[in-house]
Amino acid sequence: MTLVLMGCSASHPAAKSSSAPALKALSLRVVPGEQVAVIGPSGAGKTTLLQVLACALKPAQGQLLLNGVDPWALPTHALQRLRGQLFLAPQVPPLPPRQRVVTAVLAGRLPALGLWASLASLLYPQPLDLADAALARFDLSDKLFERVDRLSGGERQRVGLARLAVSHAKLLLVDEPLSALDPERARQACESLTAVAREHQATLIATLHHVEMALAHFGRIVGLRDGEIAFDLPATQVSTALLRDLYARHPDELTGAAPAVDFAATAQPVLAASCR
Ligand SMILES: Nc1ncnc2c1ncn2[C@@H]1O[C@H](COP(=O)(O)OP(=O)(O)OP(=O)(O)O)[C@@H](O)[C@H]1O
Ligand SMILES: [Mg+2]
Repeated sequence: MTLVLMGCSASHPAAKSSSAPALKALSLRVVPGEQVAVIGPSGAGKTTLLQVLACALKPAQGQLLLNGVDPWALPTHALQRLRGQLFLAPQVPPLPPRQRVVTAVLAGRLPALGLWASLASLLYPQPLDLADAALARFDLSDKLFERVDRLSGGERQRVGLARLAVSHAKLLLVDEPLSALDPERARQACESLTAVAREHQATLIATLHHVEMALAHFGRIVGLRDGEIAFDLPATQVSTALLRDLYARHPDELTGAAPAVDFAATAQPVLAASCR
């Protein structure tokens, strides 16, 4: 999927009207199949950017085009159909606590299924081998029939990523996928994420606190600071000086220390339309 942002400004819906917008007249173009890592200090606007791209947050100014179409100019049902081609994996996946892992993973396919097939999939999750293969990519195949509330925070985060491996989405938007993972699992998750996107010929945009992972696994790096693009470069051209500048006010974050995540807050009963 091609995506274009032209002079987009956006704010969190709960932000004070007097505060500066989280994204300031931001322009960006990403071509089909491209893999982009968005880095930058906490509060830079990374999550807000993903929400705008997922059509979950309407830009206050400027325009978003997905495959040349302005999603916000579409009638509601067409916008819903378009959202079905997007996969937004939030940092804390909204997994119903009592659900089995297999059901949670196969929920990644729901946007591609009709109503009855979706209901059937929730009651009798199939195909098991698809869920098993997706879990194996994130080193979780022994958890197929485990209940979600019996998983650790890092395991839940990887279940959220395994969903992406069964989805049919052409735009994969992944928010801080590594924040609860140890270094080896983080490396494996990064490899699996980029491999899935390649196999599905999908465009991948991931926000990452782990700068070294971003540089090692993604071809293009967008540095975001205060809602603006500080640099947009091939990974090979991102210098230490640029990184130091990007994180000048938060040098501790450059070492990859992700903000703490409250995984206990994952007990969300429903799947938001654009957050699967
Ligand atoms: N829940 C909220 N209520 C009000 N304003 C918010 C909220 N969440 C974010 N914002 C505003 O939007 C700005 C950008 O936030 P965003 O979550 O996009 O940053 P981020 O780069 O993803 O940060 P982090 O690395 O901590 O996840 C924040 O600086 C804040 O001003
Ligand atoms: Mg964020």
